[in-house]
Amino acid sequence: KGKRAFIAGVADDNGYGWAIAKSLAAAGAEILVGTWVPALNIFETSLRRGKFDESRVLPDGSLMEITKIYPLDAIYDKLEDVPEDVKSNKRYSGSSKWTVQECAESVKQDFGSIDILVHSLANGPEVSKPLLETSRNGSKKYIGRKSKFQGSKLSFTHVGGSSLSLTYIASERIIPGYGGGMSSAKAALESDTRVLAFEAGRKHRIRVNAISAGPLRSRAAKAIGFIDTMIEYSLANAPLQKELSADEVGNTAAFLASPLASAITGAVIYVDNGLNAMGVGV
Ligand code: NAI
Repeated sequence: KGKRAFIAGVADDNGYGWAIAKSLAAAGAEILVGTWVPALNIFETSLRRGKFDESRVLPDGSLMEITKIYPLDAIYDKLEDVPEDVKSNKRYSGSSKWTVQECAESVKQDFGSIDILVHSLANGPEVSKPLLETSRNGSKKYIGRKSKFQGSKLSFTHVGGSSLSLTYIASERIIPGYGGGMSSAKAALESDTRVLAFEAGRKHRIRVNAISAGPLRSRAAKAIGFIDTMIEYSLANAPLQKELSADEVGNTAAFLASPLASAITGAVIYVDNGLNAMGVGV
């Protein structure tokens, strides 16, 4: 029987989430996705109208099927946490059950359990602000969200399953411009990857890993504002002088979720053309 994957953070065909979904689908997994509530309508419409058909093509020529799209806003753990103005907001009131807890319950009701959980969310409210000028609220929100999401969602991952999230080298090296507490959030995410690997490994034999990805021109990355500079920097300085394709991250994700990686857990794997290994620019 094929595995079932839930990928949180797919709202178009440009990001890592989409590429990971494709690689997992190509390997035979059933695909469920969690889409940010305000982006849900346009994503579903575009999908239905065939706007993504070209990028849905899998290596065998078939089109990736998404079994179900769940609305999700990972800022909110449970319904009680949602402020009134959000509840009544036009972009939210059309959907329901989109807090992390409710979404997990819906998936459980629909499918029982999942084998693979992917966290590919990006949203730093103050990302363009230097850390010195970042409000405590802005950075705290972001840090808490990442970890809690993994923790609560892991509870319905199948015994022997695996979980994966996306991180960035700004967690361990200085990347000017990656602000708003996002660097701290990624550091926390990597630390949680290790601790959760221990806890979930002991308890359910679930593996927990992260991919530290190189720069990709995704929607979220464009919002940060320096993505073209980062891509040029990598092209000039990385051991492999080629643009990184989202599929290369997708394929690593499929490997990590597969039995080929059965002894890998608590790991942060670089998929960045080797840029992390450089000490200075050339
Ligand atoms: P993306 O824009 O394709 O994906 C981010 C997704 O998160 C979007 O679909 C967005 O709608 C969703 N999202 C934002 N706030 C949300 C919320 N509150 N609840 C639910 N969904 C929400 O961008 P990308 O770049 O593919 O990001 C995926 C992951 O990859 C992120 O964790 C990012 O930090 C990481 N990454 C990206 C790099 C890049 O250069 N693009 C480099 C290294 C890591």
